[in-house]
This record gives sequence, structure tokens and C-alpha cells, in this order.
Amino acid sequence: MDVHFSQEALKEINRIIAQYPKERKNSALLPVLHVVQKETEGWLSPETMDKVASILEIKPIEVYEVVTFYTMYFTKPVGKYVIEVCQTGPCMICGSDHIIKYLEDKLGIKVGETTPDNIFTLRAVECLGACGYAPMLQIGEQYYEHLTEEKLDQIIHELGSKHSDKY
Ligand code: FES
Repeated sequence: MDVHFSQEALKEINRIIAQYPKERKNSALLPVLHVVQKETEGWLSPETMDKVASILEIKPIEVYEVVTFYTMYFTKPVGKYVIEVCQTGPCMICGSDHIIKYLEDKLGIKVGETTPDNIFTLRAVECLGACGYAPMLQIGEQYYEHLTEEKLDQIIHELGSKHSDKY
């Protein structure tokens, strides 16, 4: 399958690549993957990763290794919003188990699943570096901290209601 990126995405990719010495083009891999993932409905197929490899003149395996190592890249389709709840020690002590259960019940899905309308994916992840604000979660580039049931209701409503009356 042929993969095509928009002119805008290609422009951004070239801008990123230009920040590195010509012989170190591969250093642009992480930011380029972010651009591409946004471009391809939030996840990276093998064909997309191969295309990135060819743009950066590296082997496909070098892209696969990076994509499967970092949790912010997805290799399967995900919802419009990926809710990542931190479940590491400090967040766990402050109630991350309850946060996860509350979201599972509210969204009608389990951790690792996506709502049938493809709006939310729920994940449990390790420390996101905001332990002092536990319990917390991340959606895209946004952190939500000191979570309570009321805050979770607000977050789901704020994001979900843009796409469906259900929320
Ligand atoms: S333990 Fe949750 S952010 Fe560090």
C-alpha cells in the first residue's frame, strides 16, 4: 500500500530534518514520527514506518525499534483521544486504581480498549513525571492532575461532547 503525506506534513518533516547535519538525518526520527502519527489518524502502520525509514534513509527496523520502545507511538488504531492514566507508585498511592476503574465504568471499556465510537482509548502507563500532582493522566500533550471523579467527568464531557451527544 502506498503511503502519502500531505504537503503540510512534508514541509514540517523537511523543516525538522533541516535542523540536523545532513549525515545525521536519522536524528530527526522522533519528531518526524510525531508529525507522521498526527497525519495518519494517530497510529503508525508498517507501511507508514517504512515510508519514514525511506525519508530518513535508514533501515525499517530502526524505525520499528523506536516506535515499539516508546509508549507515545501507536502501532494499532486508537481513539481520537488516548487517555493515559499513570499507575506507578505515587499515583497508585493516591488512587490511580480508582481513577482507572471509574473511567472503565464511565466509558464502558477496559484498559487497552477503545470506545465503539472511536473517541476514547484507555491506557494505563508508567510514571509520566508529574508525581507531585498525583493522581494524574495525560491526553495528547495535555496533563490533567489531582484527579477526582468530578474532574474526570469534566474531561470526558469537554472532549467527548465535541464529537457525540453521548458525553
Ligand atoms: S507516579 Fe504518576 S506521574 Fe510519577
